[in-house]
Amino acid sequence: MIDFSLRADHPSNTKTDVVAVAVHEGQKLSWAAQDIDKASKGALAAAVKAASFAGRAGAVLPLFNLTGVSAARVVVYGAGSGNALSAKDARATGRALAACAVELEQAELTVFPLAEGAVDAMQQMVLGVSDATYRFDETKGTSTKPKPALKRVRFGMPEAAAKAAPAALKNAVAMTHGIEFTKYLGNLPANHCTPTRLGDEAKKLAKSHGLKVTVMDRKAIEKLGMGSFLSVTNGSEEPPRFIVFEYSGGKKGDAPTVFVGKGVTFDTGGISLKPAGDMDHMKWDMSGAGTVFGVMKAVAELKPKQNIVGLVVACENMPSGKATKPGDVFKSMSGQTIEVLNTDAEGRLILCDALTYAERFKPKAVIDIATLTGACVVALGSHNAGLFASNDKLADDILAAGKKMNDRFWRMPLEEDYQEALNSNFADMANVAGREGGAITAACFLWRFTKKYDWAHLDIAGVAYKGSGKEKGATGRPVAALVDYVMANEK
Ligand code: BES
Ligand code: MN
Ligand code: ZN
Repeated sequence: MIDFSLRADHPSNTKTDVVAVAVHEGQKLSWAAQDIDKASKGALAAAVKAASFAGRAGAVLPLFNLTGVSAARVVVYGAGSGNALSAKDARATGRALAACAVELEQAELTVFPLAEGAVDAMQQMVLGVSDATYRFDETKGTSTKPKPALKRVRFGMPEAAAKAAPAALKNAVAMTHGIEFTKYLGNLPANHCTPTRLGDEAKKLAKSHGLKVTVMDRKAIEKLGMGSFLSVTNGSEEPPRFIVFEYSGGKKGDAPTVFVGKGVTFDTGGISLKPAGDMDHMKWDMSGAGTVFGVMKAVAELKPKQNIVGLVVACENMPSGKATKPGDVFKSMSGQTIEVLNTDAEGRLILCDALTYAERFKPKAVIDIATLTGACVVALGSHNAGLFASNDKLADDILAAGKKMNDRFWRMPLEEDYQEALNSNFADMANVAGREGGAITAACFLWRFTKKYDWAHLDIAGVAYKGSGKEKGATGRPVAALVDYVMANEK
């Protein structure tokens, strides 16, 4: 884990392994670059000119042996043409600077933000450093790579220019801890990351972070009457778990925010079996649950004066002689019955019972997070997650947090007109409608279980992981947005 901190010395006399300062397009020096240029008698400007450095955001240029400068290495980073970096550019910059320090095998990087008090950009740089230094090697066997040398990242905020800096830094660092935990759980293969393992990880997290946790087994889940959840476990040898995290930073009786995560540790589709291609992606079908773990971890570190509950519904979706068959009918905890026409629409079947369970907290708001539909990926691709909400203020707050953290959502319709497609002749509802508007009808199914509180549903099927290429792996989304959402409620 990288150690992040603030420091207040001047760029030129900062004793550090690598000092990073910004240069704009047109080779215009930022305040920090000017400081180093002056101390080095024009060497920085000369080097930038010699390299034809264009100042494009995300670009970096390492310089060595500048006399009159305390740091042995100076890295110039591109600042574009404006006087602030966008969230996206700041994150790319954090990534590039960390990668540069890793490449140079240096332990400490000190970054001078573009403008004094640019705290939003600093937060993104923290997330970018985490992106560039995160490694998953638990299952790498004999090909484990050495850990990056980079240990400390400092941000130069001279004379405490920004009073908001310490809190902003603390929030961003907690986000990276959450994000890295979410990635870790997601990247574990399904033979490691079983529902049982998630239960064990929940207990471990609760113990190390002072959270209350209850991990329920099949018997306890049966006792709650979660017949819809349990229908999904019928084909699996792995026992299910229902996890309840409770963080109590608010007053007793303060209505909590409840997060609910889909934790299908592997989704074969069940009897409605998925095709073989890319089926390995379905180890990430617990990414909603992973997000709840990450958010709870960050919340436990940040200690907001609020009450927060995290619910995780965890099971496997497998075919077998005992598996649910299309047409089977089950009774949910709410009393509503469901005709399972497609066993691959299992996420909604497990979530609906957790959403009913959430009623007992008399919540301020309930937000579920799920890799729920391929249709959402078709609609929005992998840049925005789908947001459905029964309350406009809740939707706006989540959208704002997503925009600020560049962990974006796009609001989708939640309207009664779509409900008719879920009608069944044999139960209160079917678990699937037709192909049209698949992400919307999935949300409409969940909506039937959330009438007693304000509710938002985040369909993260497109954003939770990258399915191919060098970056194949969990993204940790949308932990940053949800932690920012919680912390914005503090003000
Ligand atoms: N876990 C999948 C959704 C998914 C698909 C996540 C692709 C990530 C990438 C979900 O359980 C599922 O299978 N949904 C079905 C619903 C359909 C049967 C109505 C789907 O999207 O095809
Ligand atoms: Mn499925
Ligand atoms: Zn699924």
